[in-house]
Amino acid sequence: MTHALSCLKYEATIRIKLLEAVSLNTFCFKNKSKGNETFNLVLNRKNTLILRPILKDYTMWYASWFDTPYYHILYKDRDHREAQAFMNNLTNYLSLEPKEKILDLACGKGRHSIYLNQLGYDVTGIDLSKNSITYASQFENETLRFRVHDMCKPYPEKFSAVFNLFTSFGYFEKEEDNLNTIKAIKSNLNQSGFGVIDFMNASYIIDNLVPEETKTVEGIAFNIKRYVQEGYIFKEIRFRDANEDFLFTEKVKAIYLDDFKNYFQKAAINLLDIFGNYDLEKFNPKESPRLILIFK
Ligand SMILES: C[S@@+](CC[C@H](N)C(=O)[O-])C[C@H]1O[C@@H](n2cnc3c(N)ncnc32)[C@H](O)[C@@H]1O
Repeated sequence: MTHALSCLKYEATIRIKLLEAVSLNTFCFKNKSKGNETFNLVLNRKNTLILRPILKDYTMWYASWFDTPYYHILYKDRDHREAQAFMNNLTNYLSLEPKEKILDLACGKGRHSIYLNQLGYDVTGIDLSKNSITYASQFENETLRFRVHDMCKPYPEKFSAVFNLFTSFGYFEKEEDNLNTIKAIKSNLNQSGFGVIDFMNASYIIDNLVPEETKTVEGIAFNIKRYVQEGYIFKEIRFRDANEDFLFTEKVKAIYLDDFKNYFQKAAINLLDIFGNYDLEKFNPKESPRLILIFK
């Protein structure tokens, strides 16, 4: 504890981060290497600062990793053309009329929302990451808005379509939050509305997992390790920047078509169609890279 504090130089920043920590209960402030173990500095439930070994505790990893600039640096080469072609295909398939309302659930920095708005839709993008929402907000207009919101809970409006895109699901610690999110999507649909979840095809991803690789982006060498453990796909991302060592771990539940069917049944949802890629070709469990579910 004393050691941790003596490592931290910027007290003002710390105070701000601690305020965030109070609201999240646990928050990754900065990874500090101590010996050969890496820790997060977090506030526990008694509001005491503790060092928590990062490899043993992934609680709410998404609240910190997705909020860092490094996440956006690592994934900056995402294929925007492919994302836009997907939005064209999807809105045509759903026959969505211009001006209809779409909720982009877990919108990140808003790449799909912004494009959907350019297509003429009234779009609301929500995400847990304050930094992503702050960034996306610069693109707001009368028919495009971005809000910080937790997708486990219904958003207070109804939409013609709710899109959950690019594997923005399966992060939750509590199993019931997967079902809560699906129920929240349903409750956000108007009478004729469609829900869409664009998830990874877990069996295809596991069969094609690259166990280790290094990606250098903007001069930062990201060493990436991938493995499957207890039904989750883990991605450990290590790098060094400005003389600091960092380690973040993505952890996504390997959710299969049958699992989704099970959630849908519990949420009284009808599965209408299943696609396996962004060209909306039929889902093939062995060969499709994506699992795209259309439901009501
Ligand atoms: C893989 S990214 C995809 C972002 C965006 N859909 C895209 O394609 O660029 C997953 C997103 O889910 C968000 N997220 C994770 N948990 C969330 C939650 N409980 N509520 C809302 N957003 C969440 C993250 O902050 C992150 O922006």
